[in-house]
This record gives sequence, structure tokens and C-alpha cells, in this order.
Amino acid sequence: MTRVALIGSGRMGAFHGETIARRVPGAQLVVVADPEPGAADALASRLGAAATTDPAAVLADRGVDAVVIAAPARFHADLVVAATTSGTHVFCEKPMAMEVADAVRASEAARAAGIVLQVGFNRRFAADWRAARALIDAGGLGAARTIRSLTRDPGGFDPARVAPGTIFRETLIHDLDTLRFLNPGATAVEVYATADALVRPDWRDRGLLDTAVLTVRFDNGATGIAEACFQAAHGYDVRAEWFGPGGMLSMGSTRADGLVVHGAAGLSAATVRYDQDLFRDAYTAELTAFVDAVASGADPALTGGRPGGLPGGDDAAAALAIALAAAESVREGSPVRVPAVPSVGVPA
Ligand SMILES: NC(=O)c1ccc[n+]([C@@H]2O[C@H](COP(=O)([O-])OP(=O)(O)OC[C@H]3O[C@@H](n4cnc5c(N)ncnc54)[C@H](O)[C@@H]3O)[C@@H](O)[C@H]2O)c1
Repeated sequence: MTRVALIGSGRMGAFHGETIARRVPGAQLVVVADPEPGAADALASRLGAAATTDPAAVLADRGVDAVVIAAPARFHADLVVAATTSGTHVFCEKPMAMEVADAVRASEAARAAGIVLQVGFNRRFAADWRAARALIDAGGLGAARTIRSLTRDPGGFDPARVAPGTIFRETLIHDLDTLRFLNPGATAVEVYATADALVRPDWRDRGLLDTAVLTVRFDNGATGIAEACFQAAHGYDVRAEWFGPGGMLSMGSTRADGLVVHGAAGLSAATVRYDQDLFRDAYTAELTAFVDAVASGADPALTGGRPGGLPGGDDAAAALAIALAAAESVREGSPVRVPAVPSVGVPA
């Protein structure tokens, strides 16, 4: 059994903890750490794990094989680096850092320690997205012309949890990784973004932007288009599209199931409400892949970013670089070059 610790027991951490404890073969959740007094207790006792308020002690514990980091983003990079000192393998939620330099620092530490470092780009593990990438890799469709990805959250967002860069760093980062995933081998060179506070205009003067659209120019000529909004009346809406000479691939659906009700007022169908409903299987698949990689003892360098494999530190840094350039583009009101991101040597 791979002994797994969870750091951060909030909304995502609780779901990942349950996934590790109940849905990932070969994994055992041994401890839940959250510095907020009492925060980890109920979850840990429900899942048969120990609870602690000391994440550092968990990361130093050589009895722990692997850690799932689901703390707030600003702590991620330092937590990854701390894990490397004890050789603990890391699954880190997105974004892996707030700045590209910190993402590179964490990746380098992981590389030097020889640990598996996987980042929570769960869409790569969703069935439609995986199948699309397999078709792109097969080559029959030709080279990408345009790629699209969008995220619309169900709403009810809390201003205390939103900062000026949140829509880029925490939300669109998924879409930016999707654009990269569906355009393998290409590098983003320029981004142009517009964003505004359309859901809560009263928060505009605090820089809390809730609606954004951006275009990304890649070095192979393809253009990516991504959009996000923090409120969608119809629920949680995540879709993507790849278009090239051989046709179009569309991924995702707003439909919760296949049922269509034909009634006196017309047709109705249920829509997806939450991320943990839409991506339940993808969240399970990403953690299963992580635990398998840890258990296999394979060279972690061979698992990073491999088609259908593990999104690693280079992927985290590359998506973050585009996200931060997009935020700058909004401030400048003009296109911004995406800075080159140093690779730590894990294959892209
Ligand atoms: N992949 C996805 O689809 C997805 C979805 C939601 C959230 N996330 C990511 O998961 C992470 C957590 O998000 P959330 O919604 O669960 O947040 P949350 O605020 O609900 O939970 C965060 C938890 O971390 C704890 N914490 C605070 N400081 C800590 C520290 N220094 N060390 C360890 N724990 C600490 C808090 O007490 C809290 O319990 C974020 O990076 C977020 O972007 C990813």
C-alpha cells in the first residue's frame, strides 16, 4: 500500500481525501494535516486517518510515501519543496505556485530529489479530453488551427476568496493547460486578454475580475481561445474544442445525464451543477495515476507530461506563465509576450 498524507482539508482536500481512502486501489490515507485547529478532525476520523495541525511534521515523516497538497495556492511551492527534503512524492493542486520562479524552484527540487511531482490538471484525465489527445497524437487530423477551452462556474463566489489574479491563476489555468495539452509540443508565445467584473460590478474597483476571454498565439501557428466566468445560471460548464484540417473534436457537455423530458412546455434536461460531479472520474483517475507512478518506482522524469500521463512541474510553470502574462495583458490593454519558461528537463 502507498501511504498517502493529505495537506489541506477544505473543499478540494476533503474530496481528494475521500478519493484516496475509498476509490484509489493500492492507496491508504494515513494522515490529514490542516493548520486550522479542528479542521482535519472530522474528515480524518470519517476516513480512518490520523489528524494533525502540523503539515511540516507530516512532510518530514519518512513513514509517509506520498502527499496530496490541497492547501491554498500561496503555500503550494514551499510545501512541494518541503516534501522533497524527505523524498515524499507529491501531487499538488493547481496552481503549483503564484509566480513562475517559484514553480521552477519547486520543479527543480522535485527533479533533484527524484520524486514524482504531479500537478492537478484533472481535465487531462477526463475521458473526452484524453480521447481527443489520442486522436491528435494519431496524426490523421493534421495540425491544430484553433483550440478552445472554457470554464463557467456555478456561482455564489465569495469576494474573500477572490483576488485580482484569481480568474487567471486559479480558473483559466485549467483552460491554458488544456490548450497546451491539445496542442502538444507547441509553445505559447503571446497572449491578449480582456476581463471585467460583470457578475459583481461593485467589486470592479477592488480589481476582482469575474469574466475573462483571452487568445493565445502558439509557435506552431495555432491560436488558442479561452474564457471563464464565475457565474453560470445553468451550472458548471466546462467544454473544449480542437479544430484542424481533418475536422473538429468537441469535449465536454453541459448535460448531467442523457434524460430529456418532453413535456407540455417543451423539452428539459438536467445540467451539471458542480466540478466534483462533472470530474469525479477524472479526479479519481488523476490520483490513481499518481499512486501507480509512486508504486511503480519508475523514473519520475519519464512520467511528466507524457501523453495520457502525468502533468508535471514543467506543465505547471508553462500554464502559469501564460496566466500571468494574460493578467498583465488586461492591465496593459495590449498583447503581451509569454516569457520563456526554463524547463527542468522533464519531457513536455
Ligand atoms: N482541480 C480542481 O478542479 C480544483 C477545484 C477546486 C479547488 N482546487 C484547488 O485546490 C486548492 C484548495 O482549494 P479549496 O477550494 O479546497 O480551498 P479551501 O479554502 O476550501 O481549503 C483550503 C484548506 O487549506 C487549509 N490551509 C490553510 N493554510 C494551510 C497551510 N499552510 N497548509 C496546509 N493547509 C492549509 C485551510 O485551513 C483549509 O482547510 C486550491 O489550490 C484550488 O485552486 C482545484
